[in-house]
Amino acid sequence: MKITVIGSGYVGLVTGACLAEIGHQVMCFDVDKNKISTLREGKIPIYEPGLDELVVKNIKKERLLFTDNVEDSVAFGSVQFIAVGTPSGEDGSADLNYVLKAAENIGKHMAEQKYIINKSTVPVGTAEKVKTTINAQLKTRGKDIKFDVISNPEFLKEGAAIDDFMKPARIIIGIENQECKPAMEELYAPFQKNHDKIVYMDVPSAELTKYAANCMLAVRISFMNELSRLAEVVGADIDSVRKGIGSDPRIGFNFLYAGVGYGGSCFPKDVKALIRTGRQNEVGLEVVEAAERANKNQKKFFGDKVKKYFGSSISGKKIAVWGLAFKPNTDDMREAPSLDVIADLETQGCTFSVFDPVSMTEAKKVLASSKVKYCQNQAETLDGADALIVFTEWSEFKALDFEMLSKKMKGKAIFDGRNIYDGKVVRRNGFEYFGIGKK
Ligand SMILES: NC(=O)c1ccc[n+]([C@@H]2O[C@H](COP(=O)([O-])OP(=O)(O)OC[C@H]3O[C@@H](n4cnc5c(N)ncnc54)[C@H](O)[C@@H]3O)[C@@H](O)[C@H]2O)c1
Repeated sequence: MKITVIGSGYVGLVTGACLAEIGHQVMCFDVDKNKISTLREGKIPIYEPGLDELVVKNIKKERLLFTDNVEDSVAFGSVQFIAVGTPSGEDGSADLNYVLKAAENIGKHMAEQKYIINKSTVPVGTAEKVKTTINAQLKTRGKDIKFDVISNPEFLKEGAAIDDFMKPARIIIGIENQECKPAMEELYAPFQKNHDKIVYMDVPSAELTKYAANCMLAVRISFMNELSRLAEVVGADIDSVRKGIGSDPRIGFNFLYAGVGYGGSCFPKDVKALIRTGRQNEVGLEVVEAAERANKNQKKFFGDKVKKYFGSSISGKKIAVWGLAFKPNTDDMREAPSLDVIADLETQGCTFSVFDPVSMTEAKKVLASSKVKYCQNQAETLDGADALIVFTEWSEFKALDFEMLSKKMKGKAIFDGRNIYDGKVVRRNGFEYFGIGKK
């Protein structure tokens, strides 16, 4: 099939590369001209394992094209994926400007029947707005062209995006016209071979499913984070509790890790947007609101541990930081908890020497502080440090070299925001250990 992907960010680029890989002809469009020229050279502007190989391979095979020309992009695909950003607006609702601009462009330039598939995460009712926007443009042009707006939310995880796209647990497709089904089957045919992955539903249900999934995961994390605070007070260990409840098949082990709080480009904004949808419809979503509050508290709670440790002598303390991104295997710094905790400790007079294996360039754009020194490696951050904070559970951070830590650090405190170390081992090696939800 001939497919256009509008927006070439984390979701658009992965969608385009993967659909090209399974044999479709794909054109990726973006309004960011620099991004498109970088991509045309086979260079990837984001860090996503395996994506560069896939893009280069499919450019060579002439199945993957990039354009910044809107008319070409609309003319190319009978399928037009919308995969642009939906950041939080000022009131917490999803900002639909980019989605509606993409719809407007389609309406302005389409000359034949299209399937408009929305992959961006959008509130219920957005497909209707997309339809209205396209119709308005067609009316202005005096054209009557058939099109369908389909909701197909994306569930990929940054850091494992290719695998998630290529081996989806499910493909949610919201349609209002049953005649769209054959085209959807053709589009996703290779994923359907083993068993049916497509789950058809109506459009509002598909739009809501995406928020339901992310908010459920955020609730699980916040639940464990709150329990971790209680565990510390009552002398329990949150990891033992996790194992204890995770073994119940009704609960399962995933997304039960206590930590410094959730972040990233999706959970925080999707939680906010669902709360907003609830309020607009006068339906209180108290569980989701509590999850958001608990997440905010968790980041503060972690910063408070550091403050409590140093007490009144905190000003001037030098903190080594390992990991900045909200999770490993991504350079995405959007809403990373490290940003809040560093900002909080900076107000106390701390300075920071930081290292992340891939997110340093992105971090420099959002960590405005002059109190931050960017280091080349883990070891360099430790020189003269009074404490070490770990924000991201990168594999390369998981084994501690205590000899190096002792030689380089001035202080003895390790704050483990992801519970990756065994406190007993850390203490045996002469350091003080502060995990989350640990005795
Ligand atoms: N990042 C994730 O892990 C993830 C996972 C699932 C769903 N989503 C959702 O997918 C959507 C996209 O997220 P993302 O992380 O890929 O965003 P992103 O910011 O990485 O990419 C969005 C891209 O769209 C481009 N763009 C904006 N307006 C445009 C327009 N009118 N025409 C063409 N291009 C335009 C931007 O220049 C940018 O390159 C969001 O709704 C997000 O919630 C994201």
